[in-house]
Amino acid sequence: MAESFLVTGTSKEERYRSLVPQLQALVEGEKDPIANLSNIMSGLKFGMGFFWVGIYFVKDNELVLGPFQGPVACTRIRKGKGVCGTAWDKKETMLVPDVEKFPGHIACSSESRSEIVLPCFKNGEVFAVLDVDSDQLNDFDKKDEKYLRQVVQLIEGL
Ligand code: SME
Repeated sequence: MAESFLVTGTSKEERYRSLVPQLQALVEGEKDPIANLSNIMSGLKFGMGFFWVGIYFVKDNELVLGPFQGPVACTRIRKGKGVCGTAWDKKETMLVPDVEKFPGHIACSSESRSEIVLPCFKNGEVFAVLDVDSDQLNDFDKKDEKYLRQVVQLIEGL
């Protein structure tokens, strides 16, 4: 499957529609979650052209960096801190059009301008957050939320 991975389409929505079923197929038949998450992050980064995409896991009451694609990132984030820690604390998706206007935003990269963070749930509790960053302002909208939620469902089932 990995060899034939190809995301097509010109609009964002077309690309997500091409990408999501391929991500589902990519993880089928492999039970190792780190292997699957690594491929999901690569598929998202190169399929959608994201600047940075990765997952942070809740460990020891902190968020700890997991598989990602993009520039090196902060390894630990406390609950309620930054966009990721807020998504975890509030158990809500955070859509941030301008990170400089988000109080407490953690700048892992000075190039990051906008961001979307979605919590991942197991038994009603957040066990991880999916973080996508852009080097453009106002780069994420409800369409991203809709399709990234499908990716989160895939992650929740790993
Ligand atoms: N900007 C995030 C931190 C993670 S990185 O951008 C990869 C935040 O404010 O939570």
